[in-house]
Amino acid sequence: MHANSRSIVTNQTEVHQDLHRRVERALAYPLRKPIAEHTRETFCAADEWLATQSKPLILDAGCGVGLSTRELARQHPNHAVIGIDRSADRLGRHHGVLPANAYLVRADLVDFWRLALAAGWQTMHHYLLYPNPYPKAAHLKSRWHGHPIFPVILALGGRLEVRSNWRLYIEEFAQATEQATGIQPRVDEHDPMDQSLTPFEHKYHASGQRLWRLVVELPRRPELVPATGPRDTQRSVRQGKSAKGIR
Ligand SMILES: C[S@@+](CC[C@H](N)C(=O)[O-])C[C@H]1O[C@@H](n2cnc3c(N)ncnc32)[C@H](O)[C@@H]1O
Repeated sequence: MHANSRSIVTNQTEVHQDLHRRVERALAYPLRKPIAEHTRETFCAADEWLATQSKPLILDAGCGVGLSTRELARQHPNHAVIGIDRSADRLGRHHGVLPANAYLVRADLVDFWRLALAAGWQTMHHYLLYPNPYPKAAHLKSRWHGHPIFPVILALGGRLEVRSNWRLYIEEFAQATEQATGIQPRVDEHDPMDQSLTPFEHKYHASGQRLWRLVVELPRRPELVPATGPRDTQRSVRQGKSAKGIR
């Protein structure tokens, strides 16, 4: 692991001026992107595995190589930990046998989260560890709090924890969370000392970068997610798709 990781380079100096509008929009208009069939299948397998565990759920969203999933499973033997990442390459790296209470899934979170909410999953802990920052101002839409999926992340409930080496990312996420839920997250500096939970945390810390963390306790609130209207149902039917299920 190199200890010369570059700090965030951004043309933004403060919370993005469009953030409030993006969150308002995400709360008002449903996300229309269809869910990929292969993600439905992957989700079903994860759902079956979770049922065999009968334990409270921890999600490690964007788990990369899955080291944090393994570590969280060791730290929480009475929880079931699911790590999700879209990168087959990262998930495929061998980091030893998975603990029995851990499960890794290759999936796009934008689909997986919607399926999880529709299936009634309730997260006890939900980690977003070092999400891609998309630091250019023009890429606000790609940050999780600027994305239409944002209400779904919040609706799943539980103790949500986000970590980043970019303070502004965490401040924006906190502001967006408060706007959507009325609940103010706690934001503080994070010092992993010699116990980094993830490879990205390790490399940023080893490079002397400051790390930031947001923690918020959220109720499960599916009603945060805007409902699909009759127009969408009609369209799904016209396309020959089942109008049932997920938004
Ligand atoms: C910066 S890496 C951090 C990985 C890990 N959490 C860590 O701290 O070492 C961000 C991860 O999020 C994953 N990711 C980004 N967007 C995703 C999406 N839409 N669905 C699933 N995974 C995603 C990427 O594949 C990548 O592994």
